Amino acid sequence: MPFRTTGAVAAAAMLCILALTGCKTIPPPKPLDQLTAQEQAGHAAFVTNCGACHYDRENGSLHGPSLLGTYKKDYLPSGAPANDDRITHTILFGRGNMPALGSQVGKDDIADILAYLKTL
Ligand code: HEC
Repeated sequence: MPFRTTGAVAAAAMLCILALTGCKTIPPPKPLDQLTAQEQAGHAAFVTNCGACHYDRENGSLHGPSLLGTYKKDYLPSGAPANDDRITHTILFGRGNMPALGSQVGKDDIADILAYLKTL
């Protein structure tokens, strides 16, 4: 039954493709007009404090890596786990070419920024 075999192979190939792309596709960011009050505050704080160096809603590096999908991936670009502690530490103390921002970004701002990053 050559036809059946071809069909099965094609179906298997299709499943592989779906499985592969499925692993790499990150769901899109929550639309800006659906953000909660805290997420909106985080967006504003992001624009002020991070936006000059990081894209948030698109891929690609500016001065630092894009933060699109930060919390949807397991790891930050450095290989550190993508969690509140690591990102707070990065903001407060900097990392590599990223300056420490602890003197300009307050604790409330950081909480808002983390809430916003979770929508990306
Ligand atoms: C002056 C530019 C600049 C500003 C402002 C800046 N960053 Fe960065 N950021 C960088 C650079 C450069 C890197 C890459 C650092 C490295 O690993 O060498 C980076 C890396 C990061 C990383 C990845 C850390 C890792 O472990 O891989 C996160 C998360 C991050 N920044 C978040 C932020 C947030 C949130 C803000 C705003 C509060 C911000 N950054 C502001 C330049 C900046």
